[in-house]
Amino acid sequence: MTVQDRGQQADLPGDTYAVFGNPIKHSKSPQIHKAFAQQLGDALTYRAVRVESDAFESTVLGFFQRGGRGLNITVPFKERACALADTVSSAAEQAGAANCLVPREAGLHAENTDGLGLVKDMAANLGWQLQGRRALVIGAGGAVRGILQPLLQERVAELIIVNRTASRALELAQRFDNPSTAVRGCAPADVDGETFDLVINGTSASLSDDLPELPDIKLSARCCCYDLVYAAAPTAFMQWSAARAAWAVADGLGMLVEQAAESYYLWRGQRPATDGVISDLRAALLASA
Ligand code: ATR
Repeated sequence: MTVQDRGQQADLPGDTYAVFGNPIKHSKSPQIHKAFAQQLGDALTYRAVRVESDAFESTVLGFFQRGGRGLNITVPFKERACALADTVSSAAEQAGAANCLVPREAGLHAENTDGLGLVKDMAANLGWQLQGRRALVIGAGGAVRGILQPLLQERVAELIIVNRTASRALELAQRFDNPSTAVRGCAPADVDGETFDLVINGTSASLSDDLPELPDIKLSARCCCYDLVYAAAPTAFMQWSAARAAWAVADGLGMLVEQAAESYYLWRGQRPATDGVISDLRAALLASA
């Protein structure tokens, strides 16, 4: 059944988009999409909507029946968004989660732009080389699941996932097993003494500015360290990386803007420029600190 067939009148004004999540108050998505729309001269509405857990599916379907043009989906609904869609991209399927829903002729399409956003930020914005690098990913939750496929597509030489609960890292490594890149999952201490070129913190520890359990690793001469979360001040993981003389250290603000730009492109076929949006958000973040 296509989303247009599901009955109910299209009564939303103009081109309406939204992000659904719970909680949603601190979402920067409306600000980011407003900036994209201004830049491209598009007239659109983008709202942040807090959705109750028992009403997620009905609220999504109702939004598209009423003429909604696209949704971003955030915590805790990304898995349910993926399950609800009629078609699912390979990135969303492998992640088992979607952060972007697009109404199409064939029905509701689910995409995961988080990993694309991360890779775009690291490669295009920060100029980091990914191909051939030895990569360590810390954490094995939803955030990590969303980034692994695009990271593997960049042809890192080897990908090691470590997690406090080692069994989850092992499970992920099996799920992302592929013929081109060696993927291994283990406990943090299992990689003690090893050297990495790229270290990504995908744990939720940074949300409370904690340092996750980290292995005693060596950073190569041009090692880059990325924290998927962002904050006004360097996170505990970023400070740990800088103290070990990482060649480059970044937080996830650029990834946030890039995943939004990918969503915008999927919905509207136009790719907004992101550099000015990232620097404006960074300035606002610093001013609010
Ligand atoms: P998200 O969707 O943000 O990834 P999640 O699925 O709950 O959230 O996953 C959180 C990840 O951060 C997990 O890998 C978790 O480790 P466990 O699987 O062992 O729970 C990790 N994590 C959270 N707090 C941590 C901490 N203080 N130290 C180490 N790892 C932590």
